[in-house]
Amino acid sequence: MEDQGEVASYIPELAKVDPANFGVHISTIDHRHFGSGNCYDKFSIQSIAKVLALVMAYRIVGDEIWNRVGVEPSGTAFNSLVQLETDRGIPRNPFLNAGAIVVSDILLSKLKNPREDFIAFVRSITNNTSLDYSRRIAQSEKEVGYRNVALCNFIKSFGQINNEPVDVLDFYYDLCSLEMSCQELSGLFLFLANNGCDVKSKNPVLSESQSKRINALMQTCGFYDESGDFAFKVGLPGKSGVGGGIIAVHPDQYAIAVWSPRLNKKGNSYRGMKFLEEFTTRSELSIF
Ligand code: DON
Repeated sequence: MEDQGEVASYIPELAKVDPANFGVHISTIDHRHFGSGNCYDKFSIQSIAKVLALVMAYRIVGDEIWNRVGVEPSGTAFNSLVQLETDRGIPRNPFLNAGAIVVSDILLSKLKNPREDFIAFVRSITNNTSLDYSRRIAQSEKEVGYRNVALCNFIKSFGQINNEPVDVLDFYYDLCSLEMSCQELSGLFLFLANNGCDVKSKNPVLSESQSKRINALMQTCGFYDESGDFAFKVGLPGKSGVGGGIIAVHPDQYAIAVWSPRLNKKGNSYRGMKFLEEFTTRSELSIF
């Protein structure tokens, strides 16, 4: 399959990744697993972690979360500042950097030990104790995070950030630095294909209604100003990250993770999107 685009370089550590990597892994709710390529290699999941942060915050504060962050597609880039001025510091949705920064602020206010509690939550979903942050990636992003500093301070100027921006951003960079393989990612996100319940233990991570809402947000906002295109071509709720990863979910069937580091102009994996388009077209396993 042809490949185009550039590896993310605005976070210096991400630029060191071999662009030729390609991995894919699918996990089904009836316990089948298929993988190919670099599907066991860990990579920086970046914005895919915004879904996990939202899931944790939603569990803690429930629907009150929607007072702090909207549920509308923005039609803007992931790191855009423009709508915050007219929207008085309420980000359009939780998957924009602005939205995820607000979600990080909520978690910081609610958790005793945010860094430890968040990773424990992520590990608990799949019983996988090897999942961890990358200090190297988080530090690399912090050193050049001027835009996120601007976003966080701008939102705080509207009274919509309660903690110190430096603490909110340190936590946000940690979230984004999570490293996982496609195999780990597809297993981790399977609860969203299973009405919010862990497929093995049957324990709810989210209620059925909450799980439906997270999937709706991934469908409408998961790829920023390319969300329409992803729905059009792939037809699954999903979320991308600038590390080149994409997770996509088919409710009641499967979760699929793809990793290919070269990004298109909208900051989403070029080959990852192409692969998923071909996968759902040939298999006829999309939700539409
Ligand atoms: O804040 C940032 O810019 C990164 N930590 C995450 C951005 C990202 O992954 C956008 N997704 N495609």
